[in-house]
Amino acid sequence: MNLLPLIEAKRDGQPLSADQLREIVAAVTSGKIPDYQLAAFLMAVFFRGLSTEETRYLTLAMRDSGERLHFPNDPRPLVDKHSTGGVGDKVSLVLAPLLACLGFRVPMISGRSLGITGGTLDKLESIPGLTTPLAPAQLVAQVQAIGVAMGGQTATMVPADKLLYALRDATGTVPSIPLITASILSKKLAEGISALVMDVKFGAAAFMQTREQARGLAQSIVTLAGECGVKTRALLTPMDTPLGRAAGNWLEVKEAVRCLEGYGPDDLQELVVDCASHLLVLTGKQPELALARTAALRCLATTAPRAKFDELIAAQGGDLAAFRHKLALDHTAPVVLEVITPEEGFITRCDARIIGEVVRDLGGGRMTKDAVIQPDVGVDMLAKPGEAFGRQSLLGRVHAATPAQAEAAVARLRTAFSFSETEPELPPLIAEIIES
Ligand code: URA
Repeated sequence: MNLLPLIEAKRDGQPLSADQLREIVAAVTSGKIPDYQLAAFLMAVFFRGLSTEETRYLTLAMRDSGERLHFPNDPRPLVDKHSTGGVGDKVSLVLAPLLACLGFRVPMISGRSLGITGGTLDKLESIPGLTTPLAPAQLVAQVQAIGVAMGGQTATMVPADKLLYALRDATGTVPSIPLITASILSKKLAEGISALVMDVKFGAAAFMQTREQARGLAQSIVTLAGECGVKTRALLTPMDTPLGRAAGNWLEVKEAVRCLEGYGPDDLQELVVDCASHLLVLTGKQPELALARTAALRCLATTAPRAKFDELIAAQGGDLAAFRHKLALDHTAPVVLEVITPEEGFITRCDARIIGEVVRDLGGGRMTKDAVIQPDVGVDMLAKPGEAFGRQSLLGRVHAATPAQAEAAVARLRTAFSFSETEPELPPLIAEIIES
């Protein structure tokens, strides 16, 4: 294998063929090519880009770099949702059981937290006993049996993405639209799904800082997914404010359970219902969005999705008695401090980036890929923009491992809020919908 001519070709802006991109992916998984050559290739792609065709070739080669999921024929459509990640984004925890109750099969392969962005796997693993590494055959069997599985990317599924992502992370080549598209879609295509809803976030705490960048990524994903036979819609959603009122692994599970029990919070419930509604329409289960929304809301109002979440936990080794006991506790971190405001008026800002940093620094997120997470730390009872309140009102609570960490987090959390005497205008939860 000699990668040099391919690196030079991309450096000079020449297109690569399907065979050449397959050769590069084979080089990645073989482990025989030095990292500096792969890093040079990634940097060439970062600056020169890939055409839609090249992105498709790369995505398919990555999809085929490991095992794929194969499901038996079944009237229940195979669907998934993917978020580019944010702070307090626990949509998947509510959506996956809801979708199973709406008659879908959901083989959800999720990621871990990195930096200020939370990861579904870390949230799930704060549930006593629950495990997320699921072998492909186990994942398929669980989806067939209960309609849903939530696992992590294993060494045998899309290994090329795992290796390339680590290199991109270390070489400043993560924010490349063709590389992100290939990374996300190679995993989604390996799941064998027929429809996908993407939540592409933009703003201060998002991977894509501007709406234009988010639109570019959404268009790239929606187009390629469509070409590969997966009906896809992308929702562009702002990520300047955390979703819901809690951020931190266990605190988010607790909030997701409340949402499954019908207690909101409103923004979380709305986004969950929207994602479900788009999948109902994409798969032809509902003729239009308004009817789909009613069906999703009706289903969420029953006890079935909450019971499905318990079923999922039990299927993945979770201890339901310990889970219920933990849910009944007010807090599970050793120290809890309240943040009280001396102001009165309206909240105009609850900065998701600062809150993400607070949670990460409390130990709830990772600075590096291999760092160990503290499941029970974070913030909850957050006050949100648009809310009115008086002096001595609660802005939020900090859950910490030590008093010193709690004090530092309280001081930082205060800086996340701004106030005004007049009621602010709030942006819509979904800014735009992109479809092919
Ligand atoms: N999420 C992924 O899975 N891959 C990327 O490249 C970026 C976000």
